[in-house]
Amino acid sequence: MKTNLQVNLAPPIAGGTLAAPGDLPNLAELRAEIDRIDDAMLDLLEQRYAVVRRVTEAKAGETSTTLPVRPLRERRIVERLAARSHLVPTEDIAHIWRAVLALSARSQRNYKVILWAPDDARLALATLVAARFGSTIPVEWAPTADAAIAAARAGEAILLMPADKIAPSDVPELDLIGQYPLDNLHHPWALAMGRLAAEAELPVPGVSVAIDHDDWNPSTWEGRVHHQMPTYRNERLLRAVRTLLAQAEPVVVAESAATLKQQIAQAQVGCAYLIQAGDCAEPIDAGRPETLRMAGLIEALAGRLEHATGTPTLRIGRLAGQFAKPRSASAEQAGDALLPVYRGDAVNDMGASAEERAADPSKLWEAYEQSCRVNSWLIAGAAAEGGHAPYVSHEALLLPYEAALTRRDALTGEWWARSAHTLWLGDRTRDPHGAHVEFLRGVANPIGIKCGPTMAPDQLLRLLERIDERREAGRIMLIARLGHDKVGKLLQPMMDAVAAAGHPVLWLCDPMHGNNRSVDGMKFRLLADMVGEVESFAQVAAAAGVHAGGLHMEVTPSAVAECVADLDQLHPERTYQSRCDPRLNRAQAMQLVDAFAAALEGGA
Ligand code: PEP
Ligand code: CO
Repeated sequence: MKTNLQVNLAPPIAGGTLAAPGDLPNLAELRAEIDRIDDAMLDLLEQRYAVVRRVTEAKAGETSTTLPVRPLRERRIVERLAARSHLVPTEDIAHIWRAVLALSARSQRNYKVILWAPDDARLALATLVAARFGSTIPVEWAPTADAAIAAARAGEAILLMPADKIAPSDVPELDLIGQYPLDNLHHPWALAMGRLAAEAELPVPGVSVAIDHDDWNPSTWEGRVHHQMPTYRNERLLRAVRTLLAQAEPVVVAESAATLKQQIAQAQVGCAYLIQAGDCAEPIDAGRPETLRMAGLIEALAGRLEHATGTPTLRIGRLAGQFAKPRSASAEQAGDALLPVYRGDAVNDMGASAEERAADPSKLWEAYEQSCRVNSWLIAGAAAEGGHAPYVSHEALLLPYEAALTRRDALTGEWWARSAHTLWLGDRTRDPHGAHVEFLRGVANPIGIKCGPTMAPDQLLRLLERIDERREAGRIMLIARLGHDKVGKLLQPMMDAVAAAGHPVLWLCDPMHGNNRSVDGMKFRLLADMVGEVESFAQVAAAAGVHAGGLHMEVTPSAVAECVADLDQLHPERTYQSRCDPRLNRAQAMQLVDAFAAALEGGA
C-alpha cells in the first residue's frame, strides 16, 4: 500500500528570505524558523505513527509472536540516514532514531525491558540498553537475578543480564535473541532473552565475530615480526601518545566504513567502479584549500569514469592519514653522513640531519589531529557543494597508531579501525605471519591488499585465508601493481586462483608502483608504461571473466611533471616537487582514466 506523506516545510534558511548577504541573522526570525521546523517534524512523526499503526494492523493477521525489537532493521535505518546526512553527525542520527524506533515499537506492543547486573556492571548494561532500545523505553531494574527472570516470565518483556548469571536451558520458555560481548561489563556476555518467540530476522550479534576472533585483539600484532616500522628512542613519549590516541575521538565513524563495505560489495559484483587516488606521501601541513583541490581532483577522476562507463563510481582518497611510507632502504647517504630515510610526516622530517630524521612519537599525535582536520574539511566541502565527501584511506603501516584508534562496536562486538574508512596492506608488509597481517585480519573495515610481482598466487591465497577467512562480501580490494611488462603474465593466474578459492574481491589496478624508473637518482614514471598497465589489466580481467574494478593512483592537483611522456619533460628544479613517489598531474590522471574506460569498452 502506498502512503501519501505530506508535509509543508518552509524553505531552508539558505534559500529563503532570512539572511540577506552581509546582514546579521535576526534572532527572533531564526527562532521562528526553528519553531516552524519543529512543527513540520511533529507532522512527520504523526505520519510515521499512523504508518506504524497500519503495520500493527497488518501484523495482527499474522501469528503475533514476534518481538518488537529489530536490531537489523534499526541498523539499516540508521546507516541509510547517516549516509544521507550532511550536517547531522552520525552519533546524533543514531541517538535520535533509536528513540523514535523504540517508541514506535512500543506503540505496537506494550513491552518493557528488565535488567539485572552486578553493581560493577550496571552502568555498562544501562549504556547498552540506551544504545539498543532508545532512551524512552520503560526499564525495570530487578533486585536479584532470580527476580529478573521471574519478571520476564510474567510479562511482555525483554530481559538483559550477563550470560554467566543465567543458564538458558533452565528457562526454556525464554528465547535467546542476542548476545553482546561487552569489554567493560566484566562478564563474558550480556544476554538478551525475550519472553516472546524470536523473529527469524534477528541475528545473534557478536557470536560469529567474538568466536572467530577470540584469539585477536588490537594488540595481538605486538608479538609478531614487523617490517617497515620506525624504532622510537623516546619510548615513554610513545606510550603517552598511544594513551592519548586511545582516549581521543577517532577520525571516522564506523557506520560510514560499514556503508563503504556494502558499496564495495556492490562493486565486486560489477555494479560499480572505484577510484582511489591521492598523494604518495600526504603533507601534514596541508590547509583547507589544498585539501579541497585534491578532493576536487578525485571527484573529477571518478566523475569522468562514471560518465564514460555509465556506472556509479566510488571515491576513496589517499587522504586524511596517508602520512607513513614504507621504504626500500632504511638509510641513505647525505654527503658524508648516513641518515635514516624519510618515512612520512607521521614519522620524521625530510631535513638532512640526524635530528630531523629521528622518529618522533609526537608526530603520531600531529598526524591524528591533521587527519581530523582534513576529514572535516572534506565533509564540510562536500556539504557545501551538495555532494558526498570521498571516503578516506591510507596504508596501515604504523601499528601503534592504528591500534590506538581501533574501537569495538558495543552492539556487534566488531572491532573497527577508526583512523580511516579503509586501510591497505602494503606490498612490503604482507608477510602472512607478520604484525601487519595480524592487525588487519581482526578489524571489520574493508581492506586493500597490494599485490606486487613477487607475490605468487598461492601466497595471495594464504593471505586471503588469514584476512578474509569468512569470505565476506565487500571486505577485500586487491590492488594489482605488477608493472606494465609483467601484468600480462602474472595477473590471470592470480585472478583465477582467487576466483577458485571463492573470496569475493574487487580487483583494482595501481599502475604506479610497478613502473618505477630512475635517472641520476631521481625517480620518475613513464606515462606509456602506466597506460600500458591499465590497458593490460582491463584486458586480462575481461579474459578471466573478472570485473575490472577501477584504479588506484598517485596524483596531485599541482602542475608538476614527475610522471612524464619522455625524459625531456623532467625538470627537477621547476616541475618536480614530490617528497616520495612521482605523481600524475590532473591531465595525466585523466588520460589514465580515459585509457581505462576505453580498454573496458574494448574488452567488453
Ligand atoms: C604506496 O601505495 O604508496 C605504496 C608504497 O605501495 P606498495 O606497497 O604497492 O609499494
Ligand atoms: Co607511492
